[in-house]
Amino acid sequence: MGRISEQTIDRIRDAADILDVVSDYVQLKRRGRNWFGLCPFHPEKTPSFSINQDKQIFHCFGCGKGGNAISFLMEVERLDFVDALKQLAERTGIEVQLSGDTDPRRKALVQQIMDLYELAASHYQQALAAEDAAAVRDYLQGRGITADTWSRFRIGYVPDKWDFLLKGINTAQFSREALNQSGLFIAGDRGPYDRFRGRIMFPICNATGKVLAMAGRVFGTEEQAKYINSPETPLYHKSEVLYGLHLAKQALREAGQSIIVEGYLDLIQLHQAGITNVVAVSGTALTDRHARELRKYGNRVILAYDGDQAGVQAAVRGGYTLLQAGLDPRIVELPAELDPDDWVQQEGAQPFLAAVEQALPLLEFQLRHFPGDLRQTGDLRRFLDDTLRELAPIRDPLTRELLLKQLAELSGVDERRLHQSLEAIPARRPRDKDPALPKLGLIIEPNRSHRAQMALIRLAFEEHQDVLILLADEVRPELFSHPALRQVWELILPLLATGTIPDPGQLVSRLPDPDMQQLLSGLLIQSEERTDQLTLAIDCLTVLYRESLQGRIEARRRDLKSAEQGAGQPPEDILEEVAALQRSLTELGHQFDKYRA
Ligand code: CTP
Ligand code: MN
Repeated sequence: MGRISEQTIDRIRDAADILDVVSDYVQLKRRGRNWFGLCPFHPEKTPSFSINQDKQIFHCFGCGKGGNAISFLMEVERLDFVDALKQLAERTGIEVQLSGDTDPRRKALVQQIMDLYELAASHYQQALAAEDAAAVRDYLQGRGITADTWSRFRIGYVPDKWDFLLKGINTAQFSREALNQSGLFIAGDRGPYDRFRGRIMFPICNATGKVLAMAGRVFGTEEQAKYINSPETPLYHKSEVLYGLHLAKQALREAGQSIIVEGYLDLIQLHQAGITNVVAVSGTALTDRHARELRKYGNRVILAYDGDQAGVQAAVRGGYTLLQAGLDPRIVELPAELDPDDWVQQEGAQPFLAAVEQALPLLEFQLRHFPGDLRQTGDLRRFLDDTLRELAPIRDPLTRELLLKQLAELSGVDERRLHQSLEAIPARRPRDKDPALPKLGLIIEPNRSHRAQMALIRLAFEEHQDVLILLADEVRPELFSHPALRQVWELILPLLATGTIPDPGQLVSRLPDPDMQQLLSGLLIQSEERTDQLTLAIDCLTVLYRESLQGRIEARRRDLKSAEQGAGQPPEDILEEVAALQRSLTELGHQFDKYRA
């Protein structure tokens, strides 16, 4: 990877406000100096994710993740450094030539596939408007979908041919690799042919409306599969994409809650009926990634799945996925054998909206639809076993407690018994993989020495002239016994020496790995509250000097043992040295007096 100059990195970082960047993902509320919200990196119900705008850093007190705007984007969008930087540059409108493009070939491939999908979407749209597609338009109209809605969702049509798309777009401008990997074509013995044939086409877009994939509903052919979708491609990961999100974002934010449906046409019908805070999963079960995406828009998520047995089961599964991600799932009761599309078409928006209002909490819904008789011990046991297994991975103690209480009420089984059974089930995620546990070498002990080291680092960021002079003159990196904190100080000291106040966001970028960045952000997100900062600095420095002197005295005493056995320096020299060290130790109390004004 080529190197990007630190100047460029700083320029981009300076131009992008972390509050701005994070607000796209997390709802933030101001509390004191910092902003708080629900952490996008771990499930939680009370906000422990915080931003310090002055320092341009974020930190989560729950899972320990932290860093600056760049590390935030890297983590939340799962980008590498260069891509995160580029995205940041784009937002801020800064023109940068980044020599360090990770893999230009892959970049080009992704771009070509994106271009292919855009062309395909337009081409299919045109085909729906063409003269010979009258039957398709009639069909859509018959389902109550207006022409306005087609164009809003860019619905299209592909006739039943082997090469409608292949011939329809100029494939010569694309690499063979892009054509193969797009999923729009299938490689046959006699060359590629169209994957989608004789279908009504629904483009699947990302959050900004770029087409990533296609779904095709069978039309006028004998084909078995009602829907086929693009396969996974370098662009499209179905476990992450929410269909309709780009058109729902605004409404999701305003409503503070989202509705999830299973079908493309369910979503489209609801939109048309004016219910727009809706997204759909595209041909897959609801995943944790989906849940985390939705968490940006509020805690309550309402599942409106088909009223049949399969729909009920999928809703319960999806409900637990949401619950485990820290969300508050509710499930809509649909009339049996109807999906939201049918229902809204038959009865309009009102009954559906009323059902959303009355959506049941997950446990209640599950109980109501449990295929068994809870008065029978065997069935009750099965219900409790199933439910407790789903509750086991939930880490938030409050959520666990509330759900257990609810379960006890619903089942009539004593809450303490349920508690015991729940504790006996191992959580699916092994504890040692818990993100809350930092790497061994980074643990900060709650002792005086570590506290003093942290306070000195914090003080370097306060604009207090006397303190900065003291820090620059006296605080040598060797005084830091914590290896990671020492590394941080080694970055800070040269800045102080030239009279520069370090910039927290910038410093975070200079640290070699995410764990170090987390350490620093965690440290800086809190400020030193004491007003007499010079005294604080001197106290901390004294603690570290004393520790260092005591360490040296002990080391020399050990040397003395071997010296007495005739090895190394003469014992008298060592004794003299120890005495000198001890003198320094007693004089330590006044050593820094000269820094007091
Ligand atoms: N689905 C799929 N592949 C299939 C069947 C279904 O990916 N072979 C997905 C699609 O996302 C579809 C959803 O599951 O929208 C619901 O399927 P279904 O209820 O069968 O279809 P509807 O959405 O009701 O479609 P329609 O109303 O046109 O029959
Ligand atoms: Mn349907």
